[in-house]
Amino acid sequence: MAQISKRRTLAACAGIAVAAITAAGCSSSGGGGTSSSANNARGPITFVQGKDNVGLLAPMVAAWNAAHPTEKVTAKEQTDKADQQHDDLVQNFQAKSTTYDVVAVDVVWTAEFAAKGWLTPLKDSMALDTTGFLKAPVAAATYNNTLYAAPVSSDGGLLYYRKDLVPTPPKTIAELQADCAIAKKNGMSCYAGQFAKYEGLTCNVTEAMNTFGGKAVDAQGKPTIDSPESVAGLQYLVDGFKNGMIPQQELTFQEEQGRSAFEDGKYLFMRNWPYAYSLGSTDASSKIKGKFAVAPLPGVSGPGASTLGGHSAAISAFSTHKATALDFLKFLTSADQQKNNMEKGSLAPVIESMYTDPSLVSKYAYLPTLLTSIQNAVPRPVTPFYQGVTTAIQDNAYAALSGSKTAAQAVKDMQAAMLAASSGS
Ligand code: GLC
Repeated sequence: MAQISKRRTLAACAGIAVAAITAAGCSSSGGGGTSSSANNARGPITFVQGKDNVGLLAPMVAAWNAAHPTEKVTAKEQTDKADQQHDDLVQNFQAKSTTYDVVAVDVVWTAEFAAKGWLTPLKDSMALDTTGFLKAPVAAATYNNTLYAAPVSSDGGLLYYRKDLVPTPPKTIAELQADCAIAKKNGMSCYAGQFAKYEGLTCNVTEAMNTFGGKAVDAQGKPTIDSPESVAGLQYLVDGFKNGMIPQQELTFQEEQGRSAFEDGKYLFMRNWPYAYSLGSTDASSKIKGKFAVAPLPGVSGPGASTLGGHSAAISAFSTHKATALDFLKFLTSADQQKNNMEKGSLAPVIESMYTDPSLVSKYAYLPTLLTSIQNAVPRPVTPFYQGVTTAIQDNAYAALSGSKTAAQAVKDMQAAMLAASSGS
């Protein structure tokens, strides 16, 4: 790794004027491109993102490379697990590695990475125009009033349902619970979510808590999770495990396990992100093609509250080819790429007008439902200490779901652990 980094640094140095070399940190000791003259440097770059479940990455990189023969992008795919993606990036940043130029940043990592100085601020000569973008993903890529990443795809939770078996999707949790009888009658499981102990559990649990009126943090970021409303939200999931709405095996489910079980026809409902829509309709092995649709997540008396998800692309502070990296960010956020990601991979665009464009809505009927999900989505806490905060939520929620703590105790312990984590201890 160190060797590769050094080679990259030297290669970057070879192409720039001598006067700029010292300023760019291209001394004989190497050292990455943290100074502003790296902003002008061009050359090959590496783009790192989580596993491409939807097959968009290779054609996208090929299109860029054909147009940029001297500034080619090499794609590196991480695993499909959010926590492993995070840890891989942290290791690289901590080593000040110049191997990652552009990295996909989950909306909840922006604060941590920006506060640590690992991302290049997108301002002045590195500014990126976000006019016409949805507000939520732009806010999620912003920290301390500075944009640190280009919003690439948004995400909101959706209720996937088997329209051949449930003609009218449940609008409320009570209706969802009642519809489990249809699953039983058909020898199917009822509801698939993400309940393994990882980031997806935080999404599912805060979604349930917010739906019942809970709030993880207040406007100042102070934990306020210990409330009767949050307990009611968690209790709903605990009851789901107890009464069979959610099978025990889901304590190991991340997004992909639920998706393949739903595609296999084993579930009546699934909570998942929009990417699962395209795969359910196109996967050769999918048994549910044409048999499913999406609806807003159910709530107490109307639609529930989704957790805001999504990914941005940021330029590593240690990149030595930042001018190329910025052009690549502009390419990723261009209308053409956004449309392609939506049409081929059902990723949620960040360009707002695409959700109401009649020519798209007529082909992709789920777009208005997705827009509602994203516009009403609740962000997870914004803090540089997010990893501690999410661990506090996951550990205690998991204890409640697996039956080793009551929901009330779990929420109380969550609050205490969140308080400790948000002070950085
Ligand atoms: C999706 C969301 C992301 C979330 C992750 C959890 O990828 O876009 O924000 O953290 O799922 O697994």
